[in-house]
Amino acid sequence: MSNYDVQYIREQFPSIKKKLAGLPVAYLDGPGGTQVPKRVIDKITEYLIETNANEGGAFETSVKTDKIMEEARIICSEFLGCKAHEVAFGSSSTTNSFMLAFALMKDILPGDEIIVTDLDHLCNRSPWIQLQDAGAIIKSVRVNVEEMKLDFDDYKSKLSPRTRLVALNYASNAVGTITDVKKYIELAHEVGAITVVDAVHYAAHKPIDVKEINTDILICSPYKFFGPHLGVVYIRDSLFDKLKTIKVDADDLLEVPHKFQTGTPCFENIYGTAEAIKFIADAGEMFDHDGDKKSESQLTLREKIITGMNIFDEYEERLAFYLRSQLYKMPKIKIYGPQEGSERTSTVSFTIDKINSDIVAKHLGSKGIYAWAGHFYAKTLVNEVLNLQKDGGLIRVGVSPYNTMQEIDRLLEEVSILTAVPLPGA
Ligand SMILES: Cc1ncc(COP(=O)(O)O)c(C=O)c1O
Repeated sequence: MSNYDVQYIREQFPSIKKKLAGLPVAYLDGPGGTQVPKRVIDKITEYLIETNANEGGAFETSVKTDKIMEEARIICSEFLGCKAHEVAFGSSSTTNSFMLAFALMKDILPGDEIIVTDLDHLCNRSPWIQLQDAGAIIKSVRVNVEEMKLDFDDYKSKLSPRTRLVALNYASNAVGTITDVKKYIELAHEVGAITVVDAVHYAAHKPIDVKEINTDILICSPYKFFGPHLGVVYIRDSLFDKLKTIKVDADDLLEVPHKFQTGTPCFENIYGTAEAIKFIADAGEMFDHDGDKKSESQLTLREKIITGMNIFDEYEERLAFYLRSQLYKMPKIKIYGPQEGSERTSTVSFTIDKINSDIVAKHLGSKGIYAWAGHFYAKTLVNEVLNLQKDGGLIRVGVSPYNTMQEIDRLLEEVSILTAVPLPGA
């Protein structure tokens, strides 16, 4: 058990002090994007004041920008468990997925098969589905709704010697389900398919080890883990070398990892991303009091990151478990997510019988409780599988390391008011 200090963590986030009509704001919208620590904001500002320049120049600010890019790549590689040259940046994970799809499309032959899933965000569906234009056949793995998990047997039945790519998520941003991606990847590789793991939701909650799960590609977005708006992608170097990325004809941009880059990168956000990862590592060092471990100074950056992620996750899960256990007791509430005891994130989604989820989110928002309603771009799951479109989709509450039990109680109080008296329009 760590000596986790949520008040200390809250002090690191300037936005936490925000009030709405005199009410403190409870940011339960983490799965849509977390708040940002001051040290990350400071680094972004510092870059723009002290170092602002394009890369590759002979003068001081440009040389520093090159160094910042190199260091950020190393720090991101420590976050992902890969080599620095296997890390590339783009404006968002969706943009990165489309870039990858453009590159891979060049090798698609009519009749090749692509597997996506009904659990995924559109970011990890739409780019691959468009490979139909090159003649690919798209198959989507179904969700077992009782368990709110991908149906592994259905996946196995969809694999074939023609499967060229399998795209699946590590954790669902709609219902929090964590998928055992390793076993999916193993089978995909047996038929020679490339694997793409969407870790955008997962990366906010659990440590990632791309070599352990053995994926070829993994995407994540730092704005979900205390950083700025950016997309980070891991591409296994043997694949990256061969990848036919769309490129301007410039010699300095033809090699790995620069061959993924189109135009000038957002240096300030890449710098801010490295700082967000250091924030996680520092929390790991600060709150780790496991006597069996090496002394703090001996921990590597990666060990500190893993410890930080695990400490945050343990704290978040305590709050999320409490939230779920209270919601289970309430009338008219239906929780959507994996069964208790299953691997999951601290994201809790539910509906209130006969109250449109949009109305619930608006009511919560008016009380300073920020939570989302809708399909969150996990549109296949929410609109088609769960058929919740007419009800405004799901109400999604995300627990982040800066949230408190009091905030969860405030949410529960408002939900209990809503379940007692339906609002007009319900
Ligand atoms: C699971 C998941 N995948 C992908 C995305 C898209 O990420 P980006 O906004 O960086 O394109 C999101 C964003 O919410 C997400 O939650």
